[in-house]
Amino acid sequence: EAAEKGGYEHFMLKEIHEQPKAVRDTLSGRIAKDDSAVILDELKWTAEYVNSFSKVFIIACGTAYHAGLVGKYYIENLARVPVEVDIASEFRYRKPIIDDNTLTIVVSQSGETIDTLAALKEAKRLGSKTMAVTNVVGSSIAREADQVVYTWAGPEIAVASTKAYTTQLIVMFLLGAYMAGLRGTVEDSRMRELLGKLRNIPAQISETLEDVDPIKAFAQQYGYNDDVFFLGRALDYHVALEGSLKLKEISYIHAEAYAAGELKHGTLALITRGIPVVALATQRSVYEKTLSNIKEVKARDAVVIGVAAKGDTELHKYTDHVIFVPETDELLIPLLTVLPLQLLAYYTALTRGCDVDKPRNLAKSVTVE
Ligand code: G6P
Repeated sequence: EAAEKGGYEHFMLKEIHEQPKAVRDTLSGRIAKDDSAVILDELKWTAEYVNSFSKVFIIACGTAYHAGLVGKYYIENLARVPVEVDIASEFRYRKPIIDDNTLTIVVSQSGETIDTLAALKEAKRLGSKTMAVTNVVGSSIAREADQVVYTWAGPEIAVASTKAYTTQLIVMFLLGAYMAGLRGTVEDSRMRELLGKLRNIPAQISETLEDVDPIKAFAQQYGYNDDVFFLGRALDYHVALEGSLKLKEISYIHAEAYAAGELKHGTLALITRGIPVVALATQRSVYEKTLSNIKEVKARDAVVIGVAAKGDTELHKYTDHVIFVPETDELLIPLLTVLPLQLLAYYTALTRGCDVDKPRNLAKSVTVE
């Protein structure tokens, strides 16, 4: 097993550091040389086919569900098709409204999660077109779906998913841009800009992962708290959900993610002196709003760790610490901001002496109901 860990103490740490390569593999051959379009040879869709979708469902569990939330943002933002995201175990029992103009995308690292597989079968039974986004070739979900886009992340062993998530985000972005290309909903210059920035993401992931010392220090300083909150708006909120799940899964700290604007409708009552709050503030359109939410938690003496893009000169004024990630488009920045959150969960679990790769009560793939 030591050999399989390639010199890392845990599979999770190895897989975190494999992300530049995993994401590069996911992207390989999928961006046109001149950055003008996404190439997804496995789909061979036409404009007519894409325009026939009145709605897209994205269905998944756990981390894959969080990737689905980001996927909704991408498909709606780029391709302007309405998307509904659901948890597989909810979707399969709720009589969803589906017909043959619906595309159902199931997202599953393993391709074996029983609820996701059952949801896929239910969508098919109701007449939906179906697609799987999965990491495992020949898995049950890959075989069941009409179409498959593989994430090519390589084997993921640690229960807490890391490189599967980032590669799922890449596939969701590619899908959004691919659909947008066929529908003509994104201007050529914007498409080139986005795909050019997407090309830089693997190198920017490497750059982000070099900066671990401050995160180790936060883990040691705040790792014994009973509660941690994560805040953000728009895509930052979806990343906050994933950061919170990572921390819960492996460090057993009670962690909650909140849409920052929703704080004052309940969670603010729980914010007291010394509570760590991880606040993401990368989304320009809601930046000022996020800052004012951060001020609200600061006013209750929370300890705020901000996450911002390099070049941000404001956030440090309202937070105790700031973790910076490289600058990119705000649509792509979840691929970078999730990294310090993965590392924070990892080093916090280490600080607390938890079994990082095999957390209690959890399984890598849930094949029973
Ligand atoms: C389990 C794992 C999670 C994973 C979820 C969905 O709960 O512990 O890490 O996100 O299943 O798995 P899937 O293989 O369908 O992506």
